[in-house]
Amino acid sequence: MIPFMDLKAQYESIKDEVLSAVSATLASTQFVLGKEVAAFEEEFAAYSGGKFGIGVNSGTSALHLALLAAGIGPGDEVITVSCTFVATVAAIDYAGARPVFVDVEPQTLNMDPRQVEAAITTRTKAIMPVHLHGQPADLDPILAIARRHGLKVIEDAAQAHGAEYKGKRAGSIGDLGCFSFYPGKNLGAYGEGGMVVTNSEDYAHIIRLLRDWGQERKYHHVLKGFNYRMDGVQGAILRVKLRHLEAWTEARRQHAAYYNTLLADAGVQTPTEMPYARHVYHVYGVRVSERDRVQEALQAKGIQTGIHYPIPVHLQKAYENFGGGRGDLPVTEKAAAELLSLPMFPELQNAQIEAVCGVVREAVAHGG
Ligand SMILES: Cc1ncc(COP(=O)(O)O)c(C=O)c1O
Repeated sequence: MIPFMDLKAQYESIKDEVLSAVSATLASTQFVLGKEVAAFEEEFAAYSGGKFGIGVNSGTSALHLALLAAGIGPGDEVITVSCTFVATVAAIDYAGARPVFVDVEPQTLNMDPRQVEAAITTRTKAIMPVHLHGQPADLDPILAIARRHGLKVIEDAAQAHGAEYKGKRAGSIGDLGCFSFYPGKNLGAYGEGGMVVTNSEDYAHIIRLLRDWGQERKYHHVLKGFNYRMDGVQGAILRVKLRHLEAWTEARRQHAAYYNTLLADAGVQTPTEMPYARHVYHVYGVRVSERDRVQEALQAKGIQTGIHYPIPVHLQKAYENFGGGRGDLPVTEKAAAELLSLPMFPELQNAQIEAVCGVVREAVAHGG
């Protein structure tokens, strides 16, 4: 049995540090925000190359508040991708704006900058690229288009903690960057969590207000806000885990390199790390025709896999009001049919990677 990820193994390796941080936080009774969250905000913003970090209760809340801080609301359009987790689009919808989808590049499955300009209308206010699977989108051309048209760039860096674009950390390159600390993420809380990173003091100020009921002081509400605060215990746990993140990321990168070697001639397309990128392999996704059959063969041997994601957002029933239809985004739709995420977590063993690759190779070879 080879799991898709192994949160238990990771917990065992840091248990003492985590329990002592949790215990100190409980004793302090700073259950919501508090000094552990404040310290984590500073440490994670610094890690991500940004000036300010604002801790919230999920990556989705981070995206929602980033959009609101950027002044996006009803009647506005945000250019984004459909090849993503639904939260990217949900956040745009929460803000009352309309997502406008562009297709992705076949090699990276990230926003294709060459398609962005044609999607701009008089209503466009922002561009929201997603750093899918932990590899940054090609941001320079996207930023150039944004500057030319006076648009904001909000990075969905939910899967890209510590990823780099031309030596700069993901999440600190656009106007605002949004992270998720969902447990399975490269930096995962033991519950929900998220953060907005920005270099703008004004945005940071607005987001700090919005996450806490728009209060300037207790019971003095200057903005219509939300209860999007981060828990004290999550801040304390995330501080402990942040100290291990670089080692975990390097382990992921080594596993990806080993997979790439073993799968080089296996009849699957392995992920490409672009010359501008440091890919952090939140997901190690290969592309294979007859994906479902290969997934079943792995399952039969006790190897867990995932699909990120089987249905693009523009084809999801919940979002049909945005007018998406089959054939709109051919690269995205083809990827959804072919992507298969193989086991990837820092504690993965080389022998496990060898076993996975052996089954993949056999399943592909015996295909039609
Ligand atoms: C690309 C992307 N955006 C947004 C989110 C939302 O984050 P959360 O689950 O913390 O709300 C996630 C992860 O779940 C994600 O993968």
